[in-house]
Amino acid sequence: MAAKIKQLSGTFALNKSEPIHRWYPYIEGFSSSLVRDELDKIQEGVSSLYDPFGGCGTAPLTAAQRGIKSFYSETNPFMAYLCDVKINVVKAAYDKFDVVEQELNHLLEIIDRFPFGNCIPCEYQGIEKYYRPDVLSKLIALMNLIEEFCQDELASKLAKTSLACILVNTSNMVRRGDLRYAKKGEKLETDFDIVYHYRQKLNEILHDVKEYGNSIKAKTVQLSEDARQINEIDLVDCIVTSPPYLNGTNYIRNTKLELKLLGFIDNEGDLPKYHSKGIIAGINNVSKRNTKNIRIVDEVRNIVEKLEQVAYDKRIVPMVIGYFYDMDRVFDKLHHILVNNGYLILDIGDSQFAGVHIPTHDILTSLAAKKGFAAYDTTVLRSRRSKNGMVLTQRIIRYRLHK
Ligand SMILES: C[S@@+](CC[C@H](N)C(=O)[O-])C[C@H]1O[C@@H](n2cnc3c(N)ncnc32)[C@H](O)[C@@H]1O
Repeated sequence: MAAKIKQLSGTFALNKSEPIHRWYPYIEGFSSSLVRDELDKIQEGVSSLYDPFGGCGTAPLTAAQRGIKSFYSETNPFMAYLCDVKINVVKAAYDKFDVVEQELNHLLEIIDRFPFGNCIPCEYQGIEKYYRPDVLSKLIALMNLIEEFCQDELASKLAKTSLACILVNTSNMVRRGDLRYAKKGEKLETDFDIVYHYRQKLNEILHDVKEYGNSIKAKTVQLSEDARQINEIDLVDCIVTSPPYLNGTNYIRNTKLELKLLGFIDNEGDLPKYHSKGIIAGINNVSKRNTKNIRIVDEVRNIVEKLEQVAYDKRIVPMVIGYFYDMDRVFDKLHHILVNNGYLILDIGDSQFAGVHIPTHDILTSLAAKKGFAAYDTTVLRSRRSKNGMVLTQRIIRYRLHK
């Protein structure tokens, strides 16, 4: 049982039953229990934490629940928004819960009486294909009701977050790794009852703010979008993070429905502008523009030579070069933001391309060592098999910084 929990802590699974963490299922995330376990292992205690790849805010939220002030970077504006809502908005909404509750209950009453059956199909700048027409018209109607009846900023943010959190479930899409169209049998008819799901989610969020809002004892601050662009020095004593794996997850495309709802994009043509801000971690990140200035770090020369013989796509080699070049720049920033003797806890997995193993953990550890990070402990959380049968692992590597 303990082994199973250890395995699951490296995934989002355990967050699904935790207040606040459970609002939005971010399958790329880890669980709060992983962060708690790591904080517990640090005997001196932690007073401030940074997550350079904040995602849906699991590390900052877990820190906030322990009264630890936190900082994050995140290039996906929806994830950054969610992180702020789950911590800062919840904290503020708890302090004036009567106002927030009154407004959201009023919204629920309006929704009860609203004639959703009369909504007419609408356009959604190309995004309409991801919804049934009746679901889309109700979705737009719900958003209009929120805009009209939520005057309080905190209530409005919670109401919009509730809608964002049910977008995939009520669409024609599923998240299976990437976001894709659901195949026959992958959806239930009840999934499309967007008004029902909205009510459920808003009630869950209201409940969590009321019952668990006081668990948030510290605020969080977004330092930058891009982890390569922070300038802080000696700000934190601990970093807990899971960088993108070298596997091509397109974090931006996977959240296009949420980005559209919250106005971060007008249409799908706007997605690349956010995608190109992320570190190079997949072949879709590789473009002439973002690989123009990359240089090969010594630690990947051997692998690049092997890959050059077998790569089935000309973007694989620049992707691998770019990934480690970008991570090298991140380590440089981490060296500055972390105090001497501070802790870096890294959750990372290795990869393979065309049968060539990329020992990401070893390469990152070598790069980190050059910036003063000494690895002192590793835990393999789980093993997985790539499509060609190669065994790959997810592991936690713990470092201490010696400046
Ligand atoms: C593996 S996920 C982290 C998930 C997080 N641990 C959680 O539990 O939600 C990696 C995140 O890094 C973000 N990202 C990619 N490139 C980035 C960059 N250059 N700076 C900051 N964030 C970046 C992605 O948008 C994604 O949300």
